[in-house]
Amino acid sequence: MWIGVVTLFPEMFTALTGHGVVGRAVRQELIELEFFNPRDHAEGAYRRVDDRPYGGGPGMVMQVAPLWRALQQAREQAQKRQLRPHVLYMSPQGRVLRQPQVRHWVQERQEQGLILLCGRYEGIDERLLEMAVDEECSIGDYVLSGGELPAMVLVDAMTRWLPGALGHGESAAEDSFSAVWLDCPHYTRPPNFAGREVPAVLLSGDHAEVAHWRHRQRVLRTASRRPDLLSTIELSEEERGWIEGAASGRTDGA
Ligand SMILES: C[S@@+](CC[C@H](N)C(=O)[O-])C[C@H]1O[C@@H](n2cnc3c(N)ncnc32)[C@H](O)[C@@H]1O
Repeated sequence: MWIGVVTLFPEMFTALTGHGVVGRAVRQELIELEFFNPRDHAEGAYRRVDDRPYGGGPGMVMQVAPLWRALQQAREQAQKRQLRPHVLYMSPQGRVLRQPQVRHWVQERQEQGLILLCGRYEGIDERLLEMAVDEECSIGDYVLSGGELPAMVLVDAMTRWLPGALGHGESAAEDSFSAVWLDCPHYTRPPNFAGREVPAVLLSGDHAEVAHWRHRQRVLRTASRRPDLLSTIELSEEERGWIEGAASGRTDGA
């Protein structure tokens, strides 16, 4: 999957591309990140990319022209690969990112690529957004200093859905939010640490029992930590019984 990133700080992305799942996906060429720096398209001795806001007020605004030229260069590179990328502006005013959207973009955009636009300062001159952006994407209701971290969050989340990106035995489909539930608790060796035992069922070797236990844990975790998610789920009778049992303090698994 090709992703063009328009950013003043491409070097920040080495924190993402040099490590872990994304680093491996880059080395395996499952994902290719290409950077386009508006500073390379700025004019004048100081190569300025920002200016004071019309109407006054604090802070600076990213200028249209260097961003427009950087975006054009990104589009040309995409065209050479016969791609027709969607342009996403990472913005606190965009639709808040959720797992189904991540998955949708991977499915829809894997063949055509994406261009991620990272803002800085007070934001970007509105005319650039009107002329060049298809969609705005927020990573949450808070404001960061730039779009680079949000872009990295999105790339990491999407990479997990690229076929072959996760190692053997790992599956994005079991992660929290991928189906409807939060993930179950996980344990590894030793079986006893400071008197705390791993649940016996996980040591039993009974795969059906383990699967049943894990499902119950997913249901109970979701009910206790994110009850808001339950409204999107049609509960089976057994699942409803687990939740009601936990709420009334029963520990018998009913
Ligand atoms: C300081 S912010 C500008 C915030 C803008 N003045 C506002 O209040 O909507 C600078 C840049 O950081 C990025 N950014 C900040 N918070 C973000 C968030 N929650 N999600 C995605 N991008 C964000 C955007 O690219 C934005 O242009």
